[in-house]
Amino acid sequence: KLTPCYDEPLPPAFFPSTAPLPFSRLDFGPGFQWGASAAAYQTEGAWQHQGKGPSIWDDFTRRKGAIRRGEHGRVAADFYSRYETDLDLASALGLTDFRFSAAWARVLPEGTGAVNRRGLDFYDRLVDACLERDLRPLLTLYHWDLPSALQAKGGWTNRSIVGWFSEYAQLMARRLGDRVPQWAVLNEPMVFVGAGHLLGIHAPGRRHLGAFLAAAHHATLAQAEGGRALRALLPDSARIGTTFSCSYLTPHRPGTADEAATRRADAILNRFFVEPTLGLGYPTAELPALRWLLERYQKPGDEQRMAFDFDFWGIQNYTREVVKFSPWLPLQWAALVPARQRGVPYTDMGWEVYPESIYHILKQFSAYKKAPQLLITESGSAFPDAVANGRVQDPARRAYLQAAIGQVLRARREGVDVGGYFAWSLTDNFEWAEGYGPRFGLIHVDYETQERTMKDSGRWYQQFLGGGVLED
Ligand code: NOJ
Repeated sequence: KLTPCYDEPLPPAFFPSTAPLPFSRLDFGPGFQWGASAAAYQTEGAWQHQGKGPSIWDDFTRRKGAIRRGEHGRVAADFYSRYETDLDLASALGLTDFRFSAAWARVLPEGTGAVNRRGLDFYDRLVDACLERDLRPLLTLYHWDLPSALQAKGGWTNRSIVGWFSEYAQLMARRLGDRVPQWAVLNEPMVFVGAGHLLGIHAPGRRHLGAFLAAAHHATLAQAEGGRALRALLPDSARIGTTFSCSYLTPHRPGTADEAATRRADAILNRFFVEPTLGLGYPTAELPALRWLLERYQKPGDEQRMAFDFDFWGIQNYTREVVKFSPWLPLQWAALVPARQRGVPYTDMGWEVYPESIYHILKQFSAYKKAPQLLITESGSAFPDAVANGRVQDPARRAYLQAAIGQVLRARREGVDVGGYFAWSLTDNFEWAEGYGPRFGLIHVDYETQERTMKDSGRWYQQFLGGGVLED
C-alpha cells in the first residue's frame, strides 16, 4: 500500500484544495519521460568564454535597477565548466531525460554568419555527456538570450528574425541532430515577448505596444519556421516541439464582469501562441482591440506560415491566476489579483501554491482537436532553503513536486496524452529579474563555492523514480 506523506508537518493551509494522491512511478507506465530542465543564461555563466558573443541578457543585467540586487548571469551556476558534475547528479536522481537550452550567441556570436566552433563544441560535449549517462537530451533552441548583434537590428521586432532564427536552427540540427532526439523551438514566447517588449521587466526592456505586437507576430512565425527547419533536416529522427507558459485562470468574482475578463486573459496568456500553430490564427474573437493592430504586422500567407504540426507541446505551469475586470490595457481590460491579496499560500515568487492548476491546464490544452502529445517541460516551486549539516530540508518544495506529479497522473487517468514530467529545475539558478533569490532547484547551489547539495525534494524524486514507492 502506498501512503504519501511529508517529512515535516506543513502548515495546514498549505494545500487547501489538494488531497495528496497515493501513486507510484509504475502508474505512469514504462515509456513516461522523467526529467529536469535548465536554461543556458540561468546556469552556464562563462559569458565571455571561448568566443561567445554578448546577448541581450548580458546587456539588460547591466542596466541600473533592472535586476534585484544588481545580480547577473556572468558566472551563474558555472554549468559551462561543471556540467559533468551536474549530469552525474541528474543521473543519480534516476532521470530519463535532461532539458537544456543552447545560447545562440555562443555558437553564432553575431547572431548570423560566422560560427564559433568552440561554442558549438561545448554543446557537442554536453550532448555526448548526457548520452553517456543514459539521459535523453531535449534541446531548447531559444530560451531568451538573443545575440546583442541581432537586437541592434531590432531583434524580435524585425521580421528578418524569422530567417536569422532558421539559420541558427539549421546549424544546431546539422551538428547535433544525429544525437538529439527531441527539440523545443521556443521557450515561453508570451513571457519573452510580453515581459521583454510590453512590461519592460525582462530583456530587452522595452515598453511599447507596437514592439510587443511586432515581436509577438515574428515569434509566432519563427516558432513554426524553426519547426520546419528542424523537420527538413531531421525528417525521421527528431521529435519537434515548442513550449508555452500557461496558468489555469479563474474569475475573482464569478458571475460578474470578471468572467469575460478571464476569457480575455486566457486568450492572451494561454491561447495566443498555441492556436496559430493549429492553423486557427490568433484568438482575436476575444481580443477585438488587438485584431486590427496585429494586422499591421501580418502579410498575406502568414496564417499558413504560422502553422506547424508539432510532435509535442511543452506545457510549463507554476500556479493559477485569479482574474478581475480592470481598465489595464496590457491584459485587455483584465488584471491578475496577487496571491498575497487573496490570503492564500504563495511561493517565493509570490505565486499561489495551487498544484491542481497543472491538471486543469492539461485538460484545457488536450481539448484542441489536433493537439499533439503534451509534455510537462517545466513545473516547480521556489522556497527559501538553507544547508544545515550537509542537508537541505525543503518540505514545501517536496510537497509541491509530489502534488504536481499527482495532478499529472489525474489528467492521465482521464485520458490526457501527457508523456513526461520535467521538474524546474535541476539546480538552483539565476531567476531573471529576481536574481539569485528564488531557488527552484532539486539541487542546492552555494554561489560562493559552487558546491552542490541534493535537497530533500531531490531525494524524494530520486526515491520515487528508483523504487516507485512512497514512504509510509
Ligand atoms: C519559466 C522559465 O522558462 C524559466 O526560465 C524560469 O526560471 C521559470 N519559469 C521560473 O520562473
